[in-house]
Amino acid sequence: MERLRDYLLPEQSSTLASDVDNLFMFINIASGVLLLGITVALVYFSWKYKRKSKEDVTPVIRHNLALELTWTIIPLILIMIVFAWGFRGYMNLRNAPSDAMEVYVTGLSFGWQFTYTNGVMSGSDLYVPAGRPVKLIMQSRDVLHSFFVPDFRIKQDLMPNRYTTQWFQADEPGEHIVFCTEYCGSGHSAMMGRVIVLPEAEFTAWLDAEKAKSEQELPLARLGENIFSQQGCMACHSVDGTAGIGPSLKGVFGATRNFADGSSTVADESYLRESILVSNAKIVAGYPPAMPNYTGVLSDRQVDALIEYIKELK
Ligand code: CUA
Repeated sequence: MERLRDYLLPEQSSTLASDVDNLFMFINIASGVLLLGITVALVYFSWKYKRKSKEDVTPVIRHNLALELTWTIIPLILIMIVFAWGFRGYMNLRNAPSDAMEVYVTGLSFGWQFTYTNGVMSGSDLYVPAGRPVKLIMQSRDVLHSFFVPDFRIKQDLMPNRYTTQWFQADEPGEHIVFCTEYCGSGHSAMMGRVIVLPEAEFTAWLDAEKAKSEQELPLARLGENIFSQQGCMACHSVDGTAGIGPSLKGVFGATRNFADGSSTVADESYLRESILVSNAKIVAGYPPAMPNYTGVLSDRQVDALIEYIKELK
């Protein structure tokens, strides 16, 4: 049973996983037993009662109370077990413990952004302490996305203008992949992240270091580099020249950009600003119009900082 489970399912890395898996295995095994029993009975009866001569006539059987009760009550019991078990598990999945650490999650085309209650932001990677319940308060900046961590057995949709929640507790330090599991556009398959589970002390140190970083009066380019990472820009834009969902930002500043409509321009500060705030105003030839607008999301200072950072990427 354990070996079958390990063969069928990913590792169990949250406290919720074993409950989900046990019910999954119960339904699978019960279905398998029923399938086998029904198939064997079907084959046996069709052999035993096959027509032997022309005079062989099937007797008229109106009903059989004992048999009918059996095939009604046994499935009813099975279904009620699955219902009660599933309902208990569902309520547990939906309701986070009241002492859970809260993290805000934003899904955007095409990345994840995590905001901690102390103000620290992180793009793509969600850092959490081991052995503590974590509650995610999630929404989308644009279309539907869905936050799926197979190792934790959790999956929840994110919607614009409405929060959905999900919780988990991972007891062992480790790394787990996050998938977007709601088709959301051309970059859907690349919309991945990680949950990084750290021992409590290491997590606190990480959070403090990030906090200190965000409070420093950074040079603009360094602030831009932080925003680039916090906003998850690297999900679509590389800084090393490789093309992603969007063009690489290496060497962009001062270069001639050719657009899908046949026009072109030299990338200066104004072009970069427009491309960040009203992203689809000009689409570089060969790329989809996939980037969300950052008007109202980034402040002027943050846009300036991003431009300074992009200038450095030669
Ligand atoms: Cu976001 Cu698929």
